[in-house]
Amino acid sequence: MENLKNYIAENKNVFLNELIELLKIPSVSADSAYAHDVLAMADAVKQSLEKAGCDLVEICETPGYPIVYGEKTIDPTLPTILVYGHYDVQPADPLELWTSPPFEPVIKVTEKHPEGAIFARGACDDKGQFYMHVKAFEYLVKTNQLPCNVKFMIEGEEEIGSKSLGWFVERNQEKLKNDVILISDTGMLSNQQPSITTGLRGLSYVEVEVTGPNRDLHSGLYGGAVANPINILAKMIASLHDENNHITIPGFYDKVTELSAEERAEMAKAPFSIEAYKNALQINDVYGEAGYTTPERTSIRPTLDVNGIWGGYTGEGTKTVIGAKAFAKISMRLVPNQDWEEITDLFTNHFISIAPKGVTVKVTKHHGGQAYVTPIDHIGYQAAKKAYTETFGVPAIPVRGGGSIPIVALFEKELKSKSILMGFGLDSDAIHSPNEHYGVFNYLKGIETIPLFYKYFVELHNQK
Ligand code: BES
Ligand code: MN
Ligand code: MN
Repeated sequence: MENLKNYIAENKNVFLNELIELLKIPSVSADSAYAHDVLAMADAVKQSLEKAGCDLVEICETPGYPIVYGEKTIDPTLPTILVYGHYDVQPADPLELWTSPPFEPVIKVTEKHPEGAIFARGACDDKGQFYMHVKAFEYLVKTNQLPCNVKFMIEGEEEIGSKSLGWFVERNQEKLKNDVILISDTGMLSNQQPSITTGLRGLSYVEVEVTGPNRDLHSGLYGGAVANPINILAKMIASLHDENNHITIPGFYDKVTELSAEERAEMAKAPFSIEAYKNALQINDVYGEAGYTTPERTSIRPTLDVNGIWGGYTGEGTKTVIGAKAFAKISMRLVPNQDWEEITDLFTNHFISIAPKGVTVKVTKHHGGQAYVTPIDHIGYQAAKKAYTETFGVPAIPVRGGGSIPIVALFEKELKSKSILMGFGLDSDAIHSPNEHYGVFNYLKGIETIPLFYKYFVELHNQK
């Protein structure tokens, strides 16, 4: 693939402009006000796959947003790579914190991205990253170098739990048959130190509702004499962690896979600066479970966090009131061997059990998923390592990620194949936050690295 570097240099502006067009479509899956844009985005993805050289491209209808499926079969005896990505994005709010509008992409220079980064919602998560695959595939087709069969499956509900994709995968096992799944929807350590994500955490997401009196009350007439749902909820939530920041739900840690001292020592070799971490977040100290380092707390350990809390009066000025109800949304990040449905039940039972008399508690389960691990002796991991090492000039190292892509564990269960997480984002790219961006360097490096994955995967596959 000698001419790949030149090809990328020559087409840099085309690649950037095509991505910019996709980023203008506000495909926010969580908010039905954008339903039309999500569908328009699916159409744009379909067109891009057709243009890139797929033989067959379909918009597959589901109970929710459609899945864009594309394939190119050059020889059924050759291995097949299934590329997965998502075309939906997170809501852009709070809008006032963006330095430029979220759906008007612009390239700006940052400290981490001296060559510029594209600022837009979805730039890194995941439009910029799945589109690298479309362009890499296009290159291989155009230059007659495609070494295997390829399938694309780009969904529109990742950010809301991939319900329809689960439905689709269960019904299309034959169609989706593959030798490895390739995903760029994670990050790497830095542009100088490439890494491959070898694990994703599981997730359990719940919503709780605490109800006190049958109506909002005057806080002078009733305050101090009835349970205030907000006071109670705050107390209940605070009790979910002990003084060492361990989670207090009985049984929560029972199935957690503990890493050996050797494995932890191996992990600790990945470069990490606590000072740089604190500086980047402008915090004066880190905080978390006793006995574990910051990288461990965000990868191999389970966590529980309130994502939102509300109730009572939050408008302008004051209102002396005891709200009848208080609410919170809570996520738990899980690690291998913890079962998300079991954890959801443990949470529910515990949370109801700690409610004092005078209130009632309701727990509603949202979505969830299991954790996932890629073994580093898998040929897909080995192929990815060779590819990154070649394009970055330094060996890529394995890193367990803190985020979740719940569908990956389901792929393993239903399709019996492993996923290789070749992410090119940086933690500082502000995914899900205002001013999300994706480095121009990272985007182009991805387009350069992916064809090498194809090449090495097929080589290693044939040696098996
Ligand atoms: N791409 C992210 C997941 C991710 C990002 C994993 C960076 C590792 C490193 C994905 O789009 C995402 O945001 N997942 C959600 C879960 C989903 C069910 C809403 C998450 O992790 O919160
Ligand atoms: Mn994503
Ligand atoms: Mn996301």
